Amino acid sequence: MNKILVTGGAGYIGSHTIIELITSGYVPIIIDNLCNTSLQNIDGIETIIDAKVKWYNVDCTDKYAMDKVFFEEGKIDGVIHFAAYKSVEESVQNPQKYYDNNIGSLEVILKCMQENKVKNIIFSSSCTVYGMPNVLPVDENAAFKKAESPYAETKQICEEMLKLDDCNSVALRYFNPIGSHHSAFIGDCSADSASNLLPIITEVASGKRESITIYGDNYNTPDGTCIRDYVHVVDLAKSHVLAIEFLIKSRGKHAFNVGTGIGVSVLDLIKTFEKTNNLKINYSIGPRRSGDIEQIYANGNLVKNKLGWEPKESLEQAMRSAWEWEKKKR
Ligand code: NAD
Ligand code: WQD
Repeated sequence: MNKILVTGGAGYIGSHTIIELITSGYVPIIIDNLCNTSLQNIDGIETIIDAKVKWYNVDCTDKYAMDKVFFEEGKIDGVIHFAAYKSVEESVQNPQKYYDNNIGSLEVILKCMQENKVKNIIFSSSCTVYGMPNVLPVDENAAFKKAESPYAETKQICEEMLKLDDCNSVALRYFNPIGSHHSAFIGDCSADSASNLLPIITEVASGKRESITIYGDNYNTPDGTCIRDYVHVVDLAKSHVLAIEFLIKSRGKHAFNVGTGIGVSVLDLIKTFEKTNNLKINYSIGPRRSGDIEQIYANGNLVKNKLGWEPKESLEQAMRSAWEWEKKKR
């Protein structure tokens, strides 16, 4: 059985990936310092799998502590590295915090991997590496534009670090992850999520907010609102299992888009949420949000051909699970 170290495994995407790894017969070991999540996700994982999960409360930028984890765990077949800060807005206010944690943690992990002869790493990248692409749907060969935020810059730099290192790597460029596990035992516990579209919609639905402001309705899109590629977090989690299987067999350096290929507007998303959950969402139109790109969605041919990954969950399933999580999260 392959043992996989999962940094940030108690977070939103990490916790869902832990479930998929266990279901596929892997032994995941979580490293998370809980800086942007809660123990609710560890409890949730253990409820779903009906067993204990091994985890270390360790900061990945702490080389000494990470050395101890690698030593204690012995043979490790691969690393999935989720641990990072993810708020675009905060990264603009405090870039150093993002450089230190996001780049610093990868630096330490690559060193530990080298010293312990661990070869395989899956890295959480983001479609923000593309900026506003010239061609849609965007494919993996599109050139990186000048980063629009320090957060995006850290993802570009980390992908570069992976290229320069002698490890085998897959950078998964996530589009917009949404939804939760159907059990509603795990989800996004982070403070940051409340600036993303769907978590704001669910907070309006629950009465935590009065309404949502749509950031601009004068874009060059069919209804004037921005278009994104929303991918169900359970589908996204599954791409990591396929990526680690692929990397153990194929080695080398790779980058894959993980998105549905379907562009959905802000208004579409609000309407789908309302219809699926039979709820009314108050919204108003506001000015554009600075730094927003008009539209982006994935060309998913490469991930389909190389990993055999395709999205299975519908937008409606994502809307239902997001609402269930909102009602259950502590
Ligand atoms: P998250 O904040 O829920 O998960 C990240 C986890 O890493 C958290 O549990 C946090 O406590 C932990 N962590 C952060 N720094 C750490 C450190 N130094 N040491 C130990 N643990 C640390 O975020 P997420 O949405 O699950 O994102 C996971 C990864 O995917 C991140 O790298 C993020 O940049 C990337 N990503 C996220 C999205 C998104 O919209 N959610 C989109 C594209 C890429
Ligand atoms: C989606 C759409 C907003 C809130 C960010 C990061 C990206 C990735 C995912 C990590 C946009 C609109 C939003 C609101 C709105 N994360 N919106 N009113 O900006 O596509 O991507 O999260 O890698 O890197 O940049 O996601 O959920 O913030 O916004 O109208 O109150 O919803 O303008 O068009 P975004 P988002």
